[in-house]
Amino acid sequence: MADRYLSFTATAPGRLLTRRLGLPQPAPLRRWTAQRPGLDGPLLHLTAGGPPVPGLAPVLARTGLPTGTTGPAAVVLDATGVRDLDTLAEVHAALHPVVRSVAASGRIVVLGAPLDARDHHQAAVQQALEGFVRSLGKEIGRGRTVNLVRLTDAAAAESTLHFLLSPRSAYVSGQVIAVGTAGFEESDGPASRALPLAGRTALVTGAARGIGEAVAETLARDGAHVVVLDVPQAEEDARRVAARLGGTALTLDITAADAGERIAAELPDGLDVLIHNAGITRDRRLVNMPADRWSPVLDVNLGSVLRTTDALLAKGALRTGGRIVATASIAGLAGNAGQTNYGASKAGVAGLVRSLAPRALAEHGVTVNAVAPGFIETRMTAAVPLFIREAGRRMNSLAQGGLPVDVAETTAWLAHPASGAVNGQVVRVCGQSLLGA
Ligand code: NAI
Repeated sequence: MADRYLSFTATAPGRLLTRRLGLPQPAPLRRWTAQRPGLDGPLLHLTAGGPPVPGLAPVLARTGLPTGTTGPAAVVLDATGVRDLDTLAEVHAALHPVVRSVAASGRIVVLGAPLDARDHHQAAVQQALEGFVRSLGKEIGRGRTVNLVRLTDAAAAESTLHFLLSPRSAYVSGQVIAVGTAGFEESDGPASRALPLAGRTALVTGAARGIGEAVAETLARDGAHVVVLDVPQAEEDARRVAARLGGTALTLDITAADAGERIAAELPDGLDVLIHNAGITRDRRLVNMPADRWSPVLDVNLGSVLRTTDALLAKGALRTGGRIVATASIAGLAGNAGQTNYGASKAGVAGLVRSLAPRALAEHGVTVNAVAPGFIETRMTAAVPLFIREAGRRMNSLAQGGLPVDVAETTAWLAHPASGAVNGQVVRVCGQSLLGA
């Protein structure tokens, strides 16, 4: 559904009027297109504390962004060496003079170190970076985003930095992403190649429409052969999407007890990317919620994810280097009235991801992460009553709803062959929603 307020504020009179009235000022977001794949402006590389994180300069050079100080479209502040209040002050000193000049739809990425359990001063100031980034994200405006990446080796974080420093991450702000080193292989190739998923097979559940369709489209853009899975009732749409993307349709209710076996039988050569996107809502306050509104939500959103993941891993159907991306929701992280069933199911997805990720990587060479969408413009949110819909749209730092492609781009980054060191993360795609922030 069109966001008329966003269109109105994009006009000069609309901007003037809404500014006078103190209303939200959403800026049109710059998203990826084949014609304009990168940010429009230079990258500014700053350091606070020291020493710098190893290997950062070549990783930033490979973004293709020119370096420069005037009107930067991207600012990377390496704060991995911040260990005390004096070096934390260097964060302020570095960004205070440049923040005003960062271009519209620009990116600020702060690099932090893992918290040191044996040094509470380091842990305090490194944790301080989270509050700093989230606060700056809330005040910076003009479609600009601010994120924090915790890392020890820049090479392992290349796909993550390239994603955050690109138009693909338009609706990702206020996030803290930890990138390890386990799971990263130099042989996975550069993060910047054109068709990173060429030769790979990706299965997306619930892909006949909405966010799942956008995910399938984006993974196909990145070279994957996509399997579009949806319920038998959605067969026509599933076939249409699969045909458009040169993929395959698979009609199957993902809650079927043998869903994992049927997927494995359908894909005898195995699978590289498994996207658990299918999801349903049956909203009602707990006091009015009969068991028949509780169980289907838990079964589609969580039970089927647990069962199919277990079955496919046990059968070895996910090839080494595989990627699992599940779909949580900010309702699962923050809670939402009328959604005890949905919130429970989506929080369960986050629990599954955090527990399984290290084992899946060690035993199968497969990473497990989740995306947690906020307010995304889909048929589901178009059905929300007008007043609540407007509130949902505006209650985030970017003052607008996201698009299915924003979730899809985030999923494609997690599915990237060079993202092996990103594991066990739950990344919100919510424009830094005020809910549970
Ligand atoms: P949607 O309702 O437009 O699409 C969901 C798809 O899943 C449909 O094609 C449906 O047929 C399929 N599906 C449902 N049950 C299935 C089953 N048992 N087996 C196979 N396929 C099944 O939903 P939307 O908005 O695209 O959401 C996609 C995912 O994102 C869901 O997991 C949802 O919970 C999550 N999400 C969406 C948000 C939004 O703002 N739209 C916000 C947060 C999370």
